[in-house]
Amino acid sequence: MTIITLPGLIDVHTHLRVPGGEHKEDFASGTAAALGGGITMILGMPNTSPPLTTPTVLQSARTQAAADSFCDVGLFAGASPEHVEYLPALAPNAVALKIYLNDTFGPLRVEDVPTLRACFQNWPQDKLIAMHAEKQSVAVGIGLAATYNRPVHFCHISRREEIELIADAKMRGLPVTCEVTPHHLFLNQADAARLGPLGDMRPLLGTPDDVAALWEHINSTVDCIATDHAPHTLAEKHSATPPPGVAGLETSLALMLTAVNGRPTMPQAKLSLDRLIELMHSNPRRIFNLPEQPDTYIEVDMQPYTIQNDQLHSKCGWTPFAGMQVNGRVQRVYLRGDCVYEQGKIMTARGSGQLIP
Ligand code: NCD
Ligand code: ZN
Repeated sequence: MTIITLPGLIDVHTHLRVPGGEHKEDFASGTAAALGGGITMILGMPNTSPPLTTPTVLQSARTQAAADSFCDVGLFAGASPEHVEYLPALAPNAVALKIYLNDTFGPLRVEDVPTLRACFQNWPQDKLIAMHAEKQSVAVGIGLAATYNRPVHFCHISRREEIELIADAKMRGLPVTCEVTPHHLFLNQADAARLGPLGDMRPLLGTPDDVAALWEHINSTVDCIATDHAPHTLAEKHSATPPPGVAGLETSLALMLTAVNGRPTMPQAKLSLDRLIELMHSNPRRIFNLPEQPDTYIEVDMQPYTIQNDQLHSKCGWTPFAGMQVNGRVQRVYLRGDCVYEQGKIMTARGSGQLIP
């Protein structure tokens, strides 16, 4: 048994479904799943029901997070045309602002220039703006970063044209960063056909050439690995109108460690362990300006194992990676010196996670 020690990982893109979708995930189940995946800090997305676009909804989600969470949690505020006037009031209680330019789960969307201008003018300069932007929307985001001379972070970049455009922007010195998900690195359109609704998410799985492009940029343009943990129940996924999204908190580290190891399922190593730590810990912390977690680390067993649905802590209870052989099972998680997770079991009380900010 080979055990390696890594810093507690940070996931900057998690859907926790509070309020309104607690049957899919809540702060207790979502933060338990995070610990199971070696993640000690998660940033929750605002496309809840109702969304985190008003101070009242954001505050009550924060109260629930403080009561229930096993790891540290920050929340995004959501941008919407109806509630732009709330942006200054939301900012002190949010880690960043999320703007949805393209279609996905839930109605939260910004499709007009006045709202975009209001976001870039009124969201505090020292807090990040993150965008769901696909295809030419990435160019819109880069244009806004240049126009207002402030950082923009692109969520779940999935296509060759997008990662190459971001590489161009970075080469010109523009303040843009991006994240990539393990499902866009490990699955493609053929898997989407095989998996049916369980392989449906936004952005859609790419072509083999899109996937190749993401790996080509893994040691350069890509700043973070983010899970985009987007749990939906199996009943919802098998319904007539399946919602897009797949779970990711409990499989992301193992998949990325498999890419470090170059076995058992990858022909060759794609990145170093140091680079994995940058992508899953140091860069997320720096880009989102997140607090340090002292004495926080994870112990991971590098023996190969098979991903199984019945070992998940997430309420959704399934993953598109079930049956896949990977390296790296989280054995123990230490948060601020305490062992909070050991061999599948949560060892700490609800509410022991801290709220950020
Ligand atoms: C996400 C969800 O279910 O909230 N779905 C998805 O397919 N990724 C929304 C999102 O991140 O776009
Ligand atoms: Zn998402």
